[in-house]
Amino acid sequence: MHQKANQRSGIIGSADEVTPVVLATMQDTPNPRLREVAAAFVRHMHAFAREVKLTEAEYDIGIDFVNRIGQATHDSHNEGILFADAIGFSTLVCLLNNGAGGASETASALLGPFWRMNSPRTASGGSIVRSPTPGPELFVSAVVRDTGGKPVACAEVDVWQSSPVGLYENQDDGQADMNLRGKFTTDAEGRFGFRSVKPAGYPVPTEGPVGDMLRAQKRHPYRPAHLHFLIYRSGFKTLVTQIFVDDDENLESDVVFGVTRALVGEFRRHDSGTPPAADVKTPWFTLDAAFVMAAGEAKLPVPPIK
Ligand code: BEZ
Ligand code: FE
Repeated sequence: MHQKANQRSGIIGSADEVTPVVLATMQDTPNPRLREVAAAFVRHMHAFAREVKLTEAEYDIGIDFVNRIGQATHDSHNEGILFADAIGFSTLVCLLNNGAGGASETASALLGPFWRMNSPRTASGGSIVRSPTPGPELFVSAVVRDTGGKPVACAEVDVWQSSPVGLYENQDDGQADMNLRGKFTTDAEGRFGFRSVKPAGYPVPTEGPVGDMLRAQKRHPYRPAHLHFLIYRSGFKTLVTQIFVDDDENLESDVVFGVTRALVGEFRRHDSGTPPAADVKTPWFTLDAAFVMAAGEAKLPVPPIK
């Protein structure tokens, strides 16, 4: 029955008729949210083609671009997320759905394509350096509180970062599996800490279609140096965020638009004094971080890679 009704209204007379005819075929979608989102998607895609008067050659380039995004995606790389990141779409969706660092909760920042689900559990204060990794040492002390200032105990905190050569371990055969990744649990005072190396800025992967896009737009591919955090505790909205290194030259021009003012950390450099551990060389860095979680639903994102 449905098909017949759709067919009856489906003969196209002109370009102007395409959009309403397509929308009509979708209006019986039982799931109301799917109905709304899919209709808006079609309306905006059609409006986009009309606005730029898309040529057939450009249409072919666009389809090829989408296909190449899929082809470039595999277990250890997610080009789809990279594309969403590079056009600011991930940050937009992130900030539409989470605090932007307003009154109380810590600002969210995009998850990015490199979070892995099963980071090694690490005792608080332990090191996430799992194979020799160059760079000045970094000691992070952090606390997680709720919006009323009370400590959030027993929160699970995933930390991940690139090495000072600018690669995540899954991109680099020279690093041990899970190097610079760890999973911590906050103590009764909401505290956790770890030892690492100071992160460096890095270019996002540019071998695929996103790299072609950046080159065509004369954009640099760099992210300012940062640490990633994903903080999970039942009863609280999962906090996905990053802390940026304050002296990075690309702080103002992050290729994926992830930097908000509140997320720039104060990385303190130490050239003398008693180091936090006997084997530490100067200079070393320390970072104090405080996270605030809002009450809400705890849920984990879909891991972008395995
Ligand atoms: C990241 O911070 O890991 C990242 C985010 C977006 C694109 C590439 C990398
Ligand atoms: Fe990153």
